[in-house]
Amino acid sequence: MREVAVIGAGMTKFGELWDMSLRDLFVDSALKAMNDAGVDILDSIYVGNMSAGQFVGQEHLGPLVADQLGMPGVPAMRIESACASGGMAIRSAFFEVASGMSDLVLASGIEKMNDGADVTGVLATASDQEEEVYYGVTFPGLYAMIARAHMEKYGTTEEDLSWVSVKAHKNGAKNPHAQFRRVMSLEDVMTSSVVAEPLRLLHCSPVTDGGAAVLLCPLDRAHEFTDKPVKILGTGAATSSLALANRPDPADLDVVELSGKRAYEMANLEPGDIDVAEVHDCFAIAEICCYEALGFVGKGEGKDAAREGVTDLGGKIPVNVSGGLKSKGHPVGATGVAQAVTIVDQLRGQGGDVQVEGAKVGLAQNMGGSGASSVVHIFQGV
Ligand code: COA
Repeated sequence: MREVAVIGAGMTKFGELWDMSLRDLFVDSALKAMNDAGVDILDSIYVGNMSAGQFVGQEHLGPLVADQLGMPGVPAMRIESACASGGMAIRSAFFEVASGMSDLVLASGIEKMNDGADVTGVLATASDQEEEVYYGVTFPGLYAMIARAHMEKYGTTEEDLSWVSVKAHKNGAKNPHAQFRRVMSLEDVMTSSVVAEPLRLLHCSPVTDGGAAVLLCPLDRAHEFTDKPVKILGTGAATSSLALANRPDPADLDVVELSGKRAYEMANLEPGDIDVAEVHDCFAIAEICCYEALGFVGKGEGKDAAREGVTDLGGKIPVNVSGGLKSKGHPVGATGVAQAVTIVDQLRGQGGDVQVEGAKVGLAQNMGGSGASSVVHIFQGV
């Protein structure tokens, strides 16, 4: 297997982008990543997308995106793993470059959620139709059950959840790409309206349009295109039961633990080696579970991390310096790639107001469903 590097990265602004279509989101982010590397040819394209068919009535994204980029003929394919589609697109591109088949492969992610679709209904298709959706479950409802289980098992409180959101908004307020650039106080979070008890509005990621892209090539060619390549040290993926009730313990995201373990093993690293991380905080409880599953803190200690500043900028392991899905936004199929864009920026020392001083190794964790699929990548500035 060849070693692989990211040589270009870019993303659109995230938010309600009424003046951008699905294809615009792709072209804008793809060109930013390609221009970043000074590249105008590609060997192959992967596009992470959860549900363009239901959100905007558009399937068959491969030929659409290649054509819109002015590259008909280039192999292009959609990758789907619900909200983990973007991370899985990076993993697919990684394998194509690592195998020696291709040199310049674009991994992108796009989602257009604000276009009139029944968003809650579309998102619910990523859970188990027969065992969950039939009984009326929604994603806020599923994560509310995870939160309840965590509260019962570890004594986590609503205030613990809320500190995660306070941190997210503090960081997101500094991110020019973020959907919500507002600082939120603990009181703002704890008095926001209840969505699915115990989760409130400000514990939830929003409905977002957006696109992101990273350009991969073999490490030994990376310096032809950039002074600051970022090596992909490890990739790990895993699945768990689609239905939450069939998991061994709803309070622990076993899929995140397994995908993280695989990525750490491939990178030959441990959690303590990570300088900065982006994790899948689709709801505040998910971030707390991810701290534990990725080994940043011990089991049951995740609830204290945001309140005590462990995962804050300047803390032991800064997490979601971008504002995370909560504040930056969560265009589901694009999220995993946007996480990688943030980590690449950090490892190049281009993190702006949220730069983690001296960051050398970064981790991005992207999850599908209520913890049914997960993919982790570990990156290193070289
Ligand atoms: N965070 C912060 N503010 C939010 C928000 C969020 N998550 N969602 C909406 N808002 C704001 C809106 O901007 C709006 O503000 P305004 O009145 O100043 O314009 C206000 O809150 C009401 O917004 P609205 O769009 O009417 O909210 P909603 O009740 O329709 O939707 C949620 C709120 C939480 C239900 C929706 O964002 C949601 O479903 N989130 C989860 C998405 C999801 O499940 N993703 C997949 C995860 S696996």
